[in-house]
Amino acid sequence: MIARVDGGARAGITGIGVNVPEKVLTNADLEKMVETSDEWIVERSGIRERRIARDDEAASDLALPAARQALEHAGVDAADLDLVVVATSTPDMLFPSTAAILAEALGAKNAYAYDTLAACSGFLYGLSQAHGLVSGGVAKRALVVGSETLSKIVDWTDRSTCILFGDGAGAAVIERVDAGGFIGFELGVDASHGNDLYLPAGGSRLPPSAETVANGEHWVRMNGREVFKVATRLMVTSASELLEACGATVDDVDIYVPHQANQRIIDHAAKNLGLPPEKVFINIDKYGNTSAASIPLALADAHAAGRLEPGTRVLMSAVGGGLTWGSAYMTWSAS
Ligand code: ACO
Repeated sequence: MIARVDGGARAGITGIGVNVPEKVLTNADLEKMVETSDEWIVERSGIRERRIARDDEAASDLALPAARQALEHAGVDAADLDLVVVATSTPDMLFPSTAAILAEALGAKNAYAYDTLAACSGFLYGLSQAHGLVSGGVAKRALVVGSETLSKIVDWTDRSTCILFGDGAGAAVIERVDAGGFIGFELGVDASHGNDLYLPAGGSRLPPSAETVANGEHWVRMNGREVFKVATRLMVTSASELLEACGATVDDVDIYVPHQANQRIIDHAAKNLGLPPEKVFINIDKYGNTSAASIPLALADAHAAGRLEPGTRVLMSAVGGGLTWGSAYMTWSAS
């Protein structure tokens, strides 16, 4: 799907918020858990540390402070929200949705709420939904959250996956804007690569049983090399096709905020898109891959670093389990 937002009402991000768990897990800590080294992890992924949720901390707990911060930034009262979307692959439970639990905790009494599952592309999928609903007049104010507790679905004895992932949450308020806003989206999915990154059990195909637990089928399984290969290609094709559809070039982009999956994937994408390093925002060293939370976490960090001002042209892209992918191009509208 590729869409350029032509004419009509435009929606944009009017507030951003972030929250990460307190516990920091460094590469040195991981050296004590699996056969790995700080040098290997930094060289192959760019990650130095990641945050880990407490046992009693679920996705909605991480999301709540991020959502409150985004609402405060936008100057929006929770009761005035019409829509709450939480992008997550690690919901509190299958139902009620994490979005429903979050809406209750926020006091968003007038909102409808649901989760969206598109793995690392989830936040961009959520933004496209919110944009359509807000610009189309179905909702006036939407909250889109990416929140993940990946540490709870990672096999901490598997060095090929446990070094990559981290926990966190980021949130954005979407409203109609007079200036700036979303310019276009490119989104897609290719399930022929579904088994390259998946969690086998716990759904209707393999309901939880003593056997699925014993077989470690509730942990993430990943064919890292294949995901790497496909991700490097899709990050580039998605972003370049979107820019072309929007009548823009990389010269129009002020900042590229990619999904923080692997520094090498980001470097490859930026180089092939023709984006110089100073236009690329990277915080993977601090958080690892936080899946659906990664882009809003990066947006919040970029905003805190003074890299996002009204008028800044932002390009975002992500690839994740599914395999899903997506890109969004927008003009930043929040102060
Ligand atoms: N420490 C030390 N050695 C390791 C580790 C580790 N943590 N993990 C693997 N190795 C070893 C392997 O066993 C292998 O050894 P061998 O050559 O003796 O067989 C060697 O290192 C190379 O392994 P590769 O898998 O080829 O390493 P690669 O350079 O591909 O890096 C990585 C692995 C980082 C997982 C990379 O493939 C990657 O980032 N893939 C994409 C993963 C990703 O982004 N997933 C998420 C995207 S979607 C989403 O975000 C949910």
